[in-house]
Amino acid sequence: MHLFRKKSISQILAEAEGGENRLKRALSAFDLTALGIGAIIGAGIFALTGTASAGGAHHIGAGPAIVISFIITALACGFAALCYAELASMLPISGSAYTYSYAAFGEFIAWIIGWDLILEYAVGNIAVAISWSAYFVELLRGFGITLPAWLTTDYVRALNSPEILASAPKLTLPFLNKTIPIFFNLPAFGIVALITVVLVIGIRESSTFNAVMVAIKLVILLFFIIVGAFYVKPENWHPFAPNGWKGIMTGAALVFFAYIGFDAISTAAEETKNPQKDLPIGIIASLIITTILYIAVAIVLTGMIHYSELNVPEPLAKAFSVIGLNWAAGIVSFGAVVSTTAVLLVFQLGQPRIFFSMARDGLLPQWFAKIHPKFKTPYVTTILTGVFVAIPAAFADIGEAAELTNIGTLFAFVLTSGGVLILRYTSPETKRHFKTPLVPIVPILAILSCFYLMLSLPLITWIRFLIWLLIGLAIYFVYGIKHSKLIERESKS
Ligand code: ALA
Repeated sequence: MHLFRKKSISQILAEAEGGENRLKRALSAFDLTALGIGAIIGAGIFALTGTASAGGAHHIGAGPAIVISFIITALACGFAALCYAELASMLPISGSAYTYSYAAFGEFIAWIIGWDLILEYAVGNIAVAISWSAYFVELLRGFGITLPAWLTTDYVRALNSPEILASAPKLTLPFLNKTIPIFFNLPAFGIVALITVVLVIGIRESSTFNAVMVAIKLVILLFFIIVGAFYVKPENWHPFAPNGWKGIMTGAALVFFAYIGFDAISTAAEETKNPQKDLPIGIIASLIITTILYIAVAIVLTGMIHYSELNVPEPLAKAFSVIGLNWAAGIVSFGAVVSTTAVLLVFQLGQPRIFFSMARDGLLPQWFAKIHPKFKTPYVTTILTGVFVAIPAAFADIGEAAELTNIGTLFAFVLTSGGVLILRYTSPETKRHFKTPLVPIVPILAILSCFYLMLSLPLITWIRFLIWLLIGLAIYFVYGIKHSKLIERESKS
């Protein structure tokens, strides 16, 4: 029965207020919207849009109908955002969907969600760091600096490229009488290390840094839309949907990555000055702004260049270089580097706070919840997240990381939306500063649309996802169930 033991809402709020491990309250609604946009616009729009419309090795493309894919995914995220906003305004403390589910479903599901959110935050950042590295390498090349290929590649590209394999330094294993090639994505590793240092020093400094980057990325996307609009050739929009509904849905499941992040705002709740009012504003405003931009970018992009040419990691830059505007391609590449830096920052900020909440509940060891005496940041979990992201980012393939991220995040959205329904029933009296409209219709639509997107992902992604959940279950039954503070307290009383 321990598994389904729940925390009451008042208990969750009291713990956040009273504990010695308090975080500093410094963020406003504007800061939160900036944090949201910082998390949302990144590798998804700059890298995956091209693949989703052109199609790739393992999936068919949406063609210019990628615009419809963006709208479908935006609707699913919008329904989920309205659910997140209600829960965030009821439980304005750190931990996001993890905390909400502790109240709605009990400890066991809460643990599963916390574990699942690692896919969204940390594994998502592995993908973003790899994309950051690719654009950074392009930018350096524009300045005439070329890094050796073996220092900027992932394992899939390296193993498929005889050139990279030939140029890589070799390590000799004397006992096995073998030599193995060395390759390492140094920029991806380096940017995560740098961001980890910034976050250990403090949230104030890093949110100012984020606000500047958000301004730059909005200007860059507007630049793309306005300049690109002059080069649109309407014949590029034909055929509009070359692969019909299936192409559109496959595209929707891929570009879902471009929307991930609005929910990250709720993980900063404990550091927000007026969470009841500011959280819903931040979540919904950042989702509306980015959706409008994505639709405009998709219309212009597929109008500038035929969709079949877009299967490259830098489609926005390619659209300009194809028409000979190299200076504009350079500006867009710079924008992509800045945008993905901001995404990395927000997710590296969010993940430690989820670990922090789980440790405060006893589901992870206590030393996870340590706050730095001078900087007042959860430095242990921040450093741990840095290591967990930086090392795989040095080797992993971006597509594999992004798909795993999407399935994990969609699952968290499904459960969170279910949480709204359950809490309306079990805690009707709790004050909600923001109420999801049209309950139960909106939460049900959120659940169904997110699940439909999950079903549009490949089987191998499902298998990896289930293995990840099994590892999480093993940890819970070996550690969490015995150390849970909730159970400890209940057995004393
Ligand atoms: N939405 C984020 C991005 O596209 C994760 O990079």
